[in-house]
Amino acid sequence: MPGLFSLAVAALLVASFYGPVYRELTILGVFRKPSPAVFAENQVFYKIEDTVHCEDLHHYADRLFAACEDTPETRFGWFPPMVIFKEPPQSGSIHVIGPKTMKSTRLGFENFSGPFVTHGIDVTQDPDQKDAVYIFAVNHLPNPGYDSAGANGEDNPKARSQVELFHHVLGSSTVKHVRSIRHPLIKTPNDIYAEGPFSFYVTNDHYYREGAKRHVEDAVPAAKWSNIVHVHIGDLESTDGQSGIDVTVALTGLHNNNGLGHGQSPDEMVISSALGGTLYRAKPSRANHTISVLDSIPLDSVTDNPSYFKDPYATPSNDASGYLVAGIARPIDLPFTFTDPTAKDGVMVWYVRPNSTSVEGSTTWEKRLIFEDDGTHIRTASAAVLVGIKPQPNESKKAWLFVTGFLSESAIAVQVEL
Ligand SMILES: *[C@@H]1O[C@H](CO)[C@@H](O)[C@H](O)[C@H]1NC(C)=O
Ligand SMILES: *[C@@H]1O[C@H](CO)[C@@H](O)[C@H](O)[C@H]1NC(C)=O
Ligand SMILES: *[C@@H]1O[C@H](CO)[C@@H](O)[C@H](O)[C@H]1NC(C)=O
Ligand SMILES: *[C@@H]1O[C@H](CO)[C@@H](O)[C@H](O)[C@H]1NC(C)=O
Repeated sequence: MPGLFSLAVAALLVASFYGPVYRELTILGVFRKPSPAVFAENQVFYKIEDTVHCEDLHHYADRLFAACEDTPETRFGWFPPMVIFKEPPQSGSIHVIGPKTMKSTRLGFENFSGPFVTHGIDVTQDPDQKDAVYIFAVNHLPNPGYDSAGANGEDNPKARSQVELFHHVLGSSTVKHVRSIRHPLIKTPNDIYAEGPFSFYVTNDHYYREGAKRHVEDAVPAAKWSNIVHVHIGDLESTDGQSGIDVTVALTGLHNNNGLGHGQSPDEMVISSALGGTLYRAKPSRANHTISVLDSIPLDSVTDNPSYFKDPYATPSNDASGYLVAGIARPIDLPFTFTDPTAKDGVMVWYVRPNSTSVEGSTTWEKRLIFEDDGTHIRTASAAVLVGIKPQPNESKKAWLFVTGFLSESAIAVQVEL
């Protein structure tokens, strides 16, 4: 997420026009009353300093990467995915979080002066340098051509979002800007799935940027106008965001497609439908850059950026690998809370793995709520990853669960049993 707007309106629309409304109301959290997380004795919990409004989180090369706003005010002044266009944007930054130190470090920018309005990111290996990565990051910039006297609409948008590509040497304290990527097909970018420095996919979470039709997109599951586009980069050196790129539509037909993650095999893509409360497993084709959806896993809340935990301590009889997906307990309240820096929004984090007792050939899924809170410890969860902990003899398997939130003043880390 974000990308949700007037959900109260949405719920009304759903209730009045839709037959099977129970599932929609469940996803919106209408029946839910979140309570504060309860920690067991000895259950270690951290609020990580300097992780303000980090929407996305990726575990790569024994560290965590996040893109954060850095001050608690900026999202409430400018954030196109929530249809907030009040103040000129400020700059956030890319952070590296140590999964053992629990410390977050801002990376300094080289050759980039912002603004940087953060949202989804992805991290991918530099094929030419073993100890370096490329980082793709959505940047929701204002549209320099916006005519404030002009009509409100798709022809005169307030935002001109783009994708930034950075290069980072692991262990260094900087990220170097490589180039920007801008194209009319990248309209409401949310999250990124990178195949390498020259190839990535990006979700457009909505077709409409504002207005009544956007509410319909939020409300009506049949309004499947969001899409995923593929970008091929021919020239890493271009100083013009629009040149040296090829952009094509890779997938249409999912409702409110939102988060993207890497799955269990190198070519498995995980896609979340935020308001559809569904995780899709899919396969992008390297040959034609379209995406085939393989199966879907419905969950009982909105679903944001998905990740896959590959259990580093798996044994044939105990493999804790699974998908993680973060969501909000009562998105129905978001239209009232999203303008309030002090509001709470409860969170739900799902851990989804194959049901070990189900019969061969028909994968069913065990869906466990691995963490819940009412917004006391973390607000508006938008990404979750697990980092394994070496199992001790005769103890149950544990891991660190890291959760970020797009309106949360801090990310958290909590020890969980798998
Ligand atoms: C910044 O970009 C300029 C021109 O593209 C280049 O000459 C310079 O080396 C770059 N600086 C860094 C720190 O990479
Ligand atoms: C793209 O390639 C995949 C196989 O890699 C194939 O299944 C799919 O039908 C192709 N799609 C199009 C539109 O050609
Ligand atoms: C696993 O599958 C079995 C058989 O289909 C079912 O009875 C059980 O409830 C499932 N367990 C979970 C945790 O979903
Ligand atoms: C683990 O449990 C087994 C069986 O209960 C016991 O024999 C063994 O001593 C225990 N090991 C440790 C390290 O506690």
